[in-house]
Amino acid sequence: MTIIKPRIAILGIFVADLAFRAKRLPVMGETLLGQGFAMGPGGKGSNQSVAAARAGGHVSFIAKLGRDSFGDIALKTWGADGIDTSHVAISDTSPTGAAFIFVSSETGDNAIIVEAGAAGTLTADDVSVAEKAISGARVFVTQLETAVAASRRGLELARKHRVTTIFNPAPAAKIDPAIYKLCDYVTPNETEAAEITGVPVNTVDEARHAGDALLKLGAKYALITLGANGALLHNREQSVHVPTYKVKVVETTGAGDAFNGAFAVAIGEGRPPVEAVRFACACAALSVTKAGTAPSMPMRSEIDALVAKGS
Ligand code: RIB
Repeated sequence: MTIIKPRIAILGIFVADLAFRAKRLPVMGETLLGQGFAMGPGGKGSNQSVAAARAGGHVSFIAKLGRDSFGDIALKTWGADGIDTSHVAISDTSPTGAAFIFVSSETGDNAIIVEAGAAGTLTADDVSVAEKAISGARVFVTQLETAVAASRRGLELARKHRVTTIFNPAPAAKIDPAIYKLCDYVTPNETEAAEITGVPVNTVDEARHAGDALLKLGAKYALITLGANGALLHNREQSVHVPTYKVKVVETTGAGDAFNGAFAVAIGEGRPPVEAVRFACACAALSVTKAGTAPSMPMRSEIDALVAKGS
């Protein structure tokens, strides 16, 4: 069976990821010797675009860059994965952003500070200019690294054109809860779900309580990612815990982006949500077996092979 590549519109940021491996974070005033460094393409929206393109989507990315060498890395990255950049604006006044990423050399877990740079200046009106990319898509995805007004306008336009919406509220922030009514799927991780709802999320049952709170805010589905514990797909009719695949973890940075990008593609292909979550878990699991964010996103054939193999 030939699957037609679904059109996916993603709004978000690109930044250069500056990833430092070390045993632990330094304390204030301390200098710590590192155990490795890498610079590469990052930013949640950009990572999700790369993940979606490699998973089989026809991706349009809506973003803003500075006119600088980090911006050149972005264009090269998107070009290599066939991502449509007609809605990427270039700023003459703000630089492309960057992220400081601490990667634990013990566990592969990460902690991030991100400065969105030019992408942080994207306005709601800039997003309206990209209405055609959104209206022509099957699925629209956004996060909270752009200004909230920009993310919200994207979700409003998607709703207006009956495009399925995925809102990845990362990094978590206290925002006007009206935004959740525009969401088919809200996809926080445990920490973000806890911060948004005030419900601690350490177990699947607690994730269900947080999921209920997200549904009350107006989302159609709460889809909470649980790291090595998979994901919970939760709405009023069903609450399904999907375990993930066992892999050797090198670095977890970008796993949520892999999940969101692949989930968008599977939903765009018309797959049932639980099957789409399984596909997304496989993409995320494969992404943590490699270092980096965008560079660690797997190809469609690898995802299909892991899903077919199971566990
Ligand atoms: O989700 C991982 C991403 O978050 C990194 O690439 C970093 O740039 C931050 O945006």
